[in-house]
Amino acid sequence: MNIKQQAGLKAAEFVQSEMIVGLGTGSTAYYFIETLGKRVAEEGLNITGVVTSNKTKEHALSLDIPLKSLDEVDSIDLTIDGADEISNDFQGIKGGGGALLFEKLVASNSDRNVWVVDESKCVGALGTFPLPVEVVKYGSDRLFRKLEKKGYKPSWRNTELGDRYITDDGNYLIDLHLGQIESVYHLSKELIQLVGVVEHGLFLDTVDTVVVGKKEGTEVISV
Ligand code: A5P
Repeated sequence: MNIKQQAGLKAAEFVQSEMIVGLGTGSTAYYFIETLGKRVAEEGLNITGVVTSNKTKEHALSLDIPLKSLDEVDSIDLTIDGADEISNDFQGIKGGGGALLFEKLVASNSDRNVWVVDESKCVGALGTFPLPVEVVKYGSDRLFRKLEKKGYKPSWRNTELGDRYITDDGNYLIDLHLGQIESVYHLSKELIQLVGVVEHGLFLDTVDTVVVGKKEGTEVISV
């Protein structure tokens, strides 16, 4: 079993019957969802999932995990998702898999958020991982130039075929190559105020528990 698998297995222990559970996106959340699917099939675990992407929806449906949309539930008990970077004060960058908008919608409607990562995601300060910004298509070239002028070193997120990546909500993604973010709160506010920006990948004051897969075992950190 690899590190991500072990961490996914551990994260699934947080789920109890009758919960409404946010299902994250990415290669680590994948293993959590696999384990959850097994528990639904083998233990009769009775849960309802709320997905954070079309990809996760397909995966959950293939495992017969019952699903509802965010609008169909009153609240979400617990969301378990991956992350691209977690700083030592537990702020995060997400969206490497392109799902940041739905991930943030689900996270911000959850009573509790658990991030499941391998140890390579734990960093001192955020910013080495490119910060994804989801933008509406119309006027996005102008927005790109604005970000360039601000010195944020933007690049378009592209598909393997070289076309612009399109999110589940039909928008483009611009990745900012920042190096190190001085003030996450300031940047978060600045980005969200730019007309055309739908959401960005800074997840601030979101996480309650971090499950870290390490070579020597899985660590659970309460924030
Ligand atoms: C999806 O958009 C992301 O936020 C993922 O949760 C994040 O990229 C972590 O993915 P991995 O577990 O694949 O590294």
